[in-house]
Amino acid sequence: MALIDIINHKKLGFALSAGEIQEFAGAAKDPGTPDYQLAALLMAIRINGMDARETAELTLAMAHTGDMLSPDVGGVAVDKHSTGGVGDTTTLVLAPLVAACGGRVLKMSGRGLGHTGGTVDKLESIPGFQTELPEGDFLRIVREVGCCVVGQTGELAPADKRLYALRDVTGTVDSIPLIASSIMSKKLAGGAQAIVLDVKCGSGALMKTPEDSLLLARAMVDIGQRNGRRMAALITRMDEPLGSHVGNALEVKEAIDVLAGRVGGPLLQVSLALGTRMLLLSGVADTAQQAQEMLDSALRAGSGLSKLAEMITAQGGDARVCFDTGLLPQARFQRPVKAKATGWLSRMDTELAGEAARLLGAGRRRKDDVIDPAVGYMTLKRLGDKVVAGEAVARLYYNDEALAVQAEEALQSALTVSPDKPSPAPWILARIDQDGKETSPA
Ligand code: URA
Ligand code: CA
Repeated sequence: MALIDIINHKKLGFALSAGEIQEFAGAAKDPGTPDYQLAALLMAIRINGMDARETAELTLAMAHTGDMLSPDVGGVAVDKHSTGGVGDTTTLVLAPLVAACGGRVLKMSGRGLGHTGGTVDKLESIPGFQTELPEGDFLRIVREVGCCVVGQTGELAPADKRLYALRDVTGTVDSIPLIASSIMSKKLAGGAQAIVLDVKCGSGALMKTPEDSLLLARAMVDIGQRNGRRMAALITRMDEPLGSHVGNALEVKEAIDVLAGRVGGPLLQVSLALGTRMLLLSGVADTAQQAQEMLDSALRAGSGLSKLAEMITAQGGDARVCFDTGLLPQARFQRPVKAKATGWLSRMDTELAGEAARLLGAGRRRKDDVIDPAVGYMTLKRLGDKVVAGEAVARLYYNDEALAVQAEEALQSALTVSPDKPSPAPWILARIDQDGKETSPA
């Protein structure tokens, strides 16, 4: 079967056969396949779509182009995946909390992508912390501690790696079947038996509307279930940073503050909701209420924080940061960002807010940029809050004055202050349970 025939089929709007999809995934892995043929097929898929069967088959075929892990972690291996946001530090809160309740959290995370932060970059701000571990060590830590967070091990879904890079430069990222198969191919290959998805929705997310977010969540849940995985998904709001801290060491600090019971708010709320689904899918809890009670009591007892310390030690890091966040990298300078008008904070362009942190050096603008772990900012106001001109709305942490000027400008233009008080939507917009039942909490 020639790739040109498959391109023509999809161009004319036909569903691809199982054989055609196998051929496509194999061609994507083969360095001998020209980029232009893959790009043409991606655009045909972007325009004409793929049905649920095609999407599930493409996912599995891409997963099988690399290693397929089937980890033995002494319990149900549970993973959580966020489609990416700003100040989105739920992994650092819920991995240790779920482990403290008896879950087995096997978490493969990424680095920052575009304006979004990456858990691997955040963890590397902890002195000594290793995110690249041999598979044996990784699985032993999950068995012994209950959680381990690493970057991708081995060669997972190499076909996706090539296709993702091509999509990035051919206007074909924004396709629900392509996003779903890209994310889920890596998740299936990683071997988690249970997967909880956090599909972000809003100005800082890939999906801008609840409708699209739900379509993406359904597609990913369907793929996982067709491949024998236990699946659940939440659609959560990403039209302002989830936590109040944005930047690598700053987000680690906030996660520690949450686990120590010093800070609540939406980061804790969303972490607990995701953690509840993880305990349910793992079979550790039988009801959502039981799962919530387990998480609450782990939080109150401080056992999430001691789990985080155990995990940091197991991964080579300095666990004293859990009890003295002053040991995390600190920026040399700080200054407030002041409101330019009086009114209500009514909108935050969260992509631009993420960009502000990247400008300070918290993320990469080129592949080989080195991250500054200490820099970022703390927001002092949330959507719906009253602000007075001249009052501090955020605090910048920086090491370079010229970069701080650019970041402040980006942050200022991300904020809209209006005369009318807005009412922000709830943090959890919808949920898909293991049995496929959908709920939209009021
Ligand atoms: N993350 C991925 O891994 N793939 C996509 O297509 C989008 C986000
Ligand atoms: Ca991520």
